[in-house]
Amino acid sequence: MFHKVNAIIFINCKLFFISIFMWLLCVIMIFASMKINKLSFFNVQFFVFLCFITEFHLHVFAQNPLFAKSRNIQNHSFSNYHIVRPYKLDLELDINMQDEYIHGIAIYHLKWNRDLKKVDVSKATIRTSNGVVSGLVNQTNDKIILDTKGLIIESIYGMNGVLDWKYGDSTEIFGKALEIASPSFDTIIQIHYRTWNKMETKRNPNFISAIQWLKPSQTHDKKNPFMFSQSQAILARTWLPCMDVPAVKFTYNAIVNYPSELNVVMSAQKFADMPSFLKLYPNKPGEFRYFIKRKLSSNLSKPSNPISTHPSNLSNPSNPSNPELINPSNPSNPSNPNKRIYFHQSLPITSYLMAIAVGDFQSIKLGDNCLVYAEPGLLEKAAYEFADLPKMIDSASALYGKYAWKEYNVLVLPPSFPFGGMENPVVTFATPTIITGDRSLVSLLAHELAHSWSGNLVTNETWNDFWLNEGFTVYFESRIMEKIYGKDYAEMLTVLGLGELKKTMADLMQTAPADTRLKLNLNGRNPDDGLTDIAYEKGRFFLLWCEQQIGRKQWDKFLNQYFKKHAFSTSNTESFVKELTQFCLENQKGLKINLSEFSMNVKQWIYGIGFPKMQLVNNGGSNSNSSLLNNDKSLMPIIRSTYLDQAQKIANLVNGVNKDRGVCTGVPDMMNLDTKNWTTHHFLYFLRNLDSLSFANMQFLDAKFGFSKTENSEIAFDWFQLCIKSRYSVAYPDLANFLKKVGRRKFVLPLYESLTLRCRVKDQNKDNLSSNPEWKLAFDTYEIARVGYHSVTQNSIDALFQFDSWTK
Ligand code: BES
Ligand code: ZN
Repeated sequence: MFHKVNAIIFINCKLFFISIFMWLLCVIMIFASMKINKLSFFNVQFFVFLCFITEFHLHVFAQNPLFAKSRNIQNHSFSNYHIVRPYKLDLELDINMQDEYIHGIAIYHLKWNRDLKKVDVSKATIRTSNGVVSGLVNQTNDKIILDTKGLIIESIYGMNGVLDWKYGDSTEIFGKALEIASPSFDTIIQIHYRTWNKMETKRNPNFISAIQWLKPSQTHDKKNPFMFSQSQAILARTWLPCMDVPAVKFTYNAIVNYPSELNVVMSAQKFADMPSFLKLYPNKPGEFRYFIKRKLSSNLSKPSNPISTHPSNLSNPSNPSNPELINPSNPSNPSNPNKRIYFHQSLPITSYLMAIAVGDFQSIKLGDNCLVYAEPGLLEKAAYEFADLPKMIDSASALYGKYAWKEYNVLVLPPSFPFGGMENPVVTFATPTIITGDRSLVSLLAHELAHSWSGNLVTNETWNDFWLNEGFTVYFESRIMEKIYGKDYAEMLTVLGLGELKKTMADLMQTAPADTRLKLNLNGRNPDDGLTDIAYEKGRFFLLWCEQQIGRKQWDKFLNQYFKKHAFSTSNTESFVKELTQFCLENQKGLKINLSEFSMNVKQWIYGIGFPKMQLVNNGGSNSNSSLLNNDKSLMPIIRSTYLDQAQKIANLVNGVNKDRGVCTGVPDMMNLDTKNWTTHHFLYFLRNLDSLSFANMQFLDAKFGFSKTENSEIAFDWFQLCIKSRYSVAYPDLANFLKKVGRRKFVLPLYESLTLRCRVKDQNKDNLSSNPEWKLAFDTYEIARVGYHSVTQNSIDALFQFDSWTK
């Protein structure tokens, strides 16, 4: 699909070229007229006049909101964070589980860029620590621009009272710019807002929101409603007006009012009573107290609900004169708001790590400062599954420095959670599909824990640098797994990762080769487009290659240095390369190849398309052995796993029998096969290496291993993929049940893709489609299952089906 934003950029480029073309034409015409001696003053005037008219029209075009839209989008955000930045957020949230909305008061503490607030940025080229800032056209310096999407803004206050605001540019993906006039450069602003409620969301079926509101039937225990957020990559703006860009970091405090029968977590430490440091906090000179005094003493223009919007209610939560919080007849009240809890995040985080979940969950302690939260019916199982978490925290800290976030907890969410895990600080959100009873999928927790360093401490500066978050994390995850479960186990996981990378690489080389680079160009696109195995696995293999070139000891020294240097800040690809090169320059002794060769190959890994190939240095004098190697040599580290050898052998056997049109029932090695020692990974490797099989062989495998009914989602996923490949329709009802039960995008999207693959050609008419059993299964199942999926999952599958067109 030709993307709207791309189209806008394209049109703007076109306008620019038309302008250049017209002026060139003018000059040529003048010269031509001179040549034929017919140049008169009138002629020149006429041509120049023509150019001005064209230029004027182009200018009018460019001012058109349709064309203007893309210009202010830098790094997937409308916010003017180069001019003003929040460094602290005080948040009060009322959670209305009944009408499914959040009412919020967000108080931002701001720092203005002294240099920028004085200059007219529309004319300036500005140098900041992050380099030259360009494209600031239209940004004036006395505005605060935040990102919003689907939010209802009620009122906004500055230090001197009500502030004017308006919506600025908007796009379908990026939402709406909230432009707040701040003529006196307020250092504190207060925004009263709410998210769309149930009805408003229903009216916008394609709306992608961070928050999913679940009915009791969609939870494990089926007794209470549940809600959770998923802010990464750019969905924080759907529940909090914010500068939704990873380069901006802030600390936060929050007060949450919620139904008493439920529980709450946020990506911050939780306090049942208002902690003493929070009571002190508003009294800091020049901050909150001052702000409130000013508000009380001045007779400001009154907001629609002056008491509920008064900041004093926030500073004193037990204030009995706050009718909004205790009067249940107030429509903006939560359903049963008789519980209030406090959160404090003392370390700066970016907006995509803002998180909240409300539901009926309890906790079990796994170690010092380490809890698991889950619904009561799942809690014991979850605690058993995640028992190694404290060991993981110790191992990770021993590798790359002290754990910074005070507590590490995990919340097990209902199965509609669209991801495997999300590294929200203090509390990782996790899918229940990793609870298998044998602790075989806990590497996911090692992954989310590793993000406490790579991602949460040192954050990708832009989504184009996403591999810095995920590649580092997969590498780090593998080191944790190696420390706890041994080298063989970690290598087995790496081999499985390589298999996934090979598949992704083959697909992307066909459809979007530029997206096989580590450093991406996602400008104007949804950053979710970068969420592929390239960032994760190509990133990991690059870092593994670095380790092999530099030597583990030195490499770990570099990583420790890197995490320390960028802690609570950001990093980008270029600064990483610079620092790595500098480190190697200073530590050349241990380097396996010479420095210039190393640097060239680093560039190949990062900016090259596909799998990286060895780059040769043409310096004549190089005495490095590797320079003599064939130019086609892959840079991919070679790894093998003896662990998986048996699974590969059995897969080969089944494939062989099947190819010879035989049936496994007649093969003694298959009949007597003992898989008692097989873990989830053996089965995954086995299933992934099978060809499409005959009905009889599929039946044999299903009878022997009970794949169709397995409770292990990873195995179920690979089995159902094989079923679709082999058209083993006996398993389709179980496949449909799986799709209705689980909403994790990594599972459901590829299954819908495989089911519709044979029919996914443009302009197919519906009748033909419904005569295809796989398409029909996908269609019928999605019609039922869609409402249960998180909007992130819905959005991906809608795009696959072009849902809009085939429901009409
Ligand atoms: N932070 C990611 C999830 C994410 C990335 C959500 C980008 C939205 C946008 C998380 O750490 C992650 O990578 N989860 C993986 C699990 C992991 C073991 C590979 C997942 O959800 O599958
Ligand atoms: Zn991750």
